[in-house]
Amino acid sequence: MPRRIIHFGIIGCGMMGREFASAAARWAHLSDPRTGQGLDFMPRITAVCDTNPAAMAWFTANLDSVTLASTDYHDLLADPSLDAIYCAVPHNLHAQLYVDIIRAGKHLLGEKPFGIDKAANEAINATIADHPGLLVRCSSEFPFYPPAYRIARWMGEDRFGQIIEVEAGFWHSSDLDPGKPINWKRRVAINGEYGCMGDLGMHVVHLPFRAGWYPRSVRALLSNIITHRPDAQGERVPCETWDNAILATEVQAGGQTFPMLLSTKRIAPGAANTWFIRIMGTEFSVEYSTARPKTLRTLPYTPGGPQAWHVEEMGYTSAYPAVTGSIFEFGFPDAILQMWAAFCDELVHGRDGMQQPFTCATPEEAARSHDLFTAALRSQATGQTVVLDGPAS
Ligand SMILES: NC(=O)c1ccc[n+]([C@@H]2O[C@H](COP(=O)([O-])OP(=O)(O)OC[C@H]3O[C@@H](n4cnc5c(N)ncnc54)[C@H](O)[C@@H]3O)[C@@H](O)[C@H]2O)c1
Repeated sequence: MPRRIIHFGIIGCGMMGREFASAAARWAHLSDPRTGQGLDFMPRITAVCDTNPAAMAWFTANLDSVTLASTDYHDLLADPSLDAIYCAVPHNLHAQLYVDIIRAGKHLLGEKPFGIDKAANEAINATIADHPGLLVRCSSEFPFYPPAYRIARWMGEDRFGQIIEVEAGFWHSSDLDPGKPINWKRRVAINGEYGCMGDLGMHVVHLPFRAGWYPRSVRALLSNIITHRPDAQGERVPCETWDNAILATEVQAGGQTFPMLLSTKRIAPGAANTWFIRIMGTEFSVEYSTARPKTLRTLPYTPGGPQAWHVEEMGYTSAYPAVTGSIFEFGFPDAILQMWAAFCDELVHGRDGMQQPFTCATPEEAARSHDLFTAALRSQATGQTVVLDGPAS
């Protein structure tokens, strides 16, 4: 079968830009889950852009396919050979760049939070609505960890019985060090008022929102724990962003009402990029944390029966099978590769023709995350529970 080549440009050649490029370099890793043959689509990165020329040097040194390297993203948008853009720039630039990318007729895999605030997100969504022929998705890779991918399937199958409660979070710990220099993610003007929610929150809500579990109310407790940090000159400057957020929400979905506790923390001692989800139900409960990346815990229950946690060590069994055998470990770069495959699969085959059913996070899901984080800011400011308008569930 002829392979469709998708010509990609990358705007923002920082940490995430490099992650994406290195994932593309091992595309042959993946195969079609239905046939076991190689995928019939493939990204080729032919253009890169960063306002810092030094950031592009890694790409031009490592990717033979790059023929355009520019400090002005308009050069990529004007290139008719480019089909799609992966955009990974600071949050204050999302609205302007995403809108320009979509108006230029390019498909877009954009980074979260998909706009620095709700107004920026609405501007992006209005532009998407004007370009229905383009695929626009929001980066969120954790559901592609094999145990999370399995949980996503169970969420779609209503396996849990009556849901008792849900907890999901994303925790970091490096900000525990007060000597860690300030960077753009700790500045409100660039990262946004949401603080840690904007930075980490889309990862946390992706699976619950995919199941239709949208909060109808939120009581937020936001903490700014380290209020000053050294800048590049060693001067201690204000660090205004929220470090940690605990959102106690109530969900009404599928005729049920249940509590859902969502947390995003930059200061969770000992945690290193720890993403987790826990769903407790009267018939079935599950737990997964990337702190133990292979381990899926489940507890099936029938009335009067035993309550015993089952532990399964899961290897590389994600959305798309890989050269890596199914008993071997899966990691962060694999999740990025799988997510990118889902984006390309949907671009080439459409949502209903994909080789596996799980799509990347949608703009609608990103928009609901903005509703939640905006309501959480209001809850923090007023000390009250805030009721959200939501889609009928
Ligand atoms: N999906 C994930 O797991 C994940 C992880 C980290 C960050 N992110 C997201 O990725 C995005 C980028 O984060 P990062 O950690 O890669 O940041 P980064 O600071 O490492 O990289 C951002 C790059 O954008 C460049 N840039 C700034 N203005 C530009 C412009 N006008 N045109 C072109 N390039 C420009 C900067 O020079 C820098 O090289 C953010 O939205 C962030 O939230 C996602």
